[in-house]
Amino acid sequence: MPVISVPQAFNEDELYVDLRRIYGRSLFLKCEGFNFAGSIKLKAASEMVEAAERDGLLRPGSILIESSSGNLGVALSMIAASKGYRFMCVTDSRCNLSTRWLMEALGSQVHVITEPDVHSGFLGARLTFVRALCASDPRYVWLNQYTNEDNWKAHYRRTAPAIAREFPRLDVLFVGAGTTGTLMGCARFFKEWHRPVRIVAIDSVGSVTFGGAPGRRMIPGLGTSVPPPLLDEAYIDEVIQVEEADTIRACRRLARSGFLFGGSTGTAVSGAMSWLAQHDEGDLTAVAIAPDLGERYLDTIYQSNWVHDLYGEDVLATADEMPTGTRSTRAREQIPG
Ligand SMILES: Cc1ncc(COP(=O)(O)O)c(C=O)c1O
Repeated sequence: MPVISVPQAFNEDELYVDLRRIYGRSLFLKCEGFNFAGSIKLKAASEMVEAAERDGLLRPGSILIESSSGNLGVALSMIAASKGYRFMCVTDSRCNLSTRWLMEALGSQVHVITEPDVHSGFLGARLTFVRALCASDPRYVWLNQYTNEDNWKAHYRRTAPAIAREFPRLDVLFVGAGTTGTLMGCARFFKEWHRPVRIVAIDSVGSVTFGGAPGRRMIPGLGTSVPPPLLDEAYIDEVIQVEEADTIRACRRLARSGFLFGGSTGTAVSGAMSWLAQHDEGDLTAVAIAPDLGERYLDTIYQSNWVHDLYGEDVLATADEMPTGTRSTRAREQIPG
């Protein structure tokens, strides 16, 4: 019986869903949404806060500030409340309303950027705001998930070893790329492992992370409008970019089997299933990471009017089908730079 006295002390790390019953093909989804922050970002948040405390950067009276599309913000809100720090989350208008309310319920201040920077998008505008605030008051401490080495180390130390323990014959791992903390931590761990594992990065169409053209992206979590500094493509074997329409199809298909997952899980499942359709003859052990659950997306991905207005009738009508719109599957060798 786990008994805890701080919320960050609990994290379910051993739960997988086998998608064979739903997709007719085995893919083990590692569920990262079962903790009090509701997402995988609890690990990055814990590691970054603890390191900042150890380094003397974060002290009583400090005010944490971070740019987040939501989940890191919720995790930091929870940890800040538990440890007695103030926290300001700088997000943008794509942040789900329920995520924003969650942060406010935990006592955080939420600043919403409504205008993207003309060159660097919403992310660029968020970072400009954070930098200005830090320059104005020395109490602000910016952990900066985009450059903080403890972001990827959290997954090198925790997420990847947890997968390795359960799947000693793992062949392929699908990991969504946001800051690329999860991706780089897992990729670095498995490059040193006792057997080769193909690391397939999943990105959304419209993200510039792997050199693609910027485009509209409405679903938070994966993809960037500024190249992520943590990314080292030398560790990545392949990249799959998924259309948001396919993300929504996958989420809604899983939901109709009773599994309500978040947007980036739909992206990972859609990308993984199209990759497996080309490469798997039933003999591969494949795992994909499911970063959060679906309650935070009830007013977007699971709201038919929202989907209809942004993606058209077709997406709602074809939610049962296999992914069709995955734009590009590129081997690492073909990626420029
Ligand atoms: C739902 C969700 N999925 C995926 C990610 C991407 O994780 P990472 O930043 O480690 O690349 C995030 C990051 O915030 C997220 O919130």
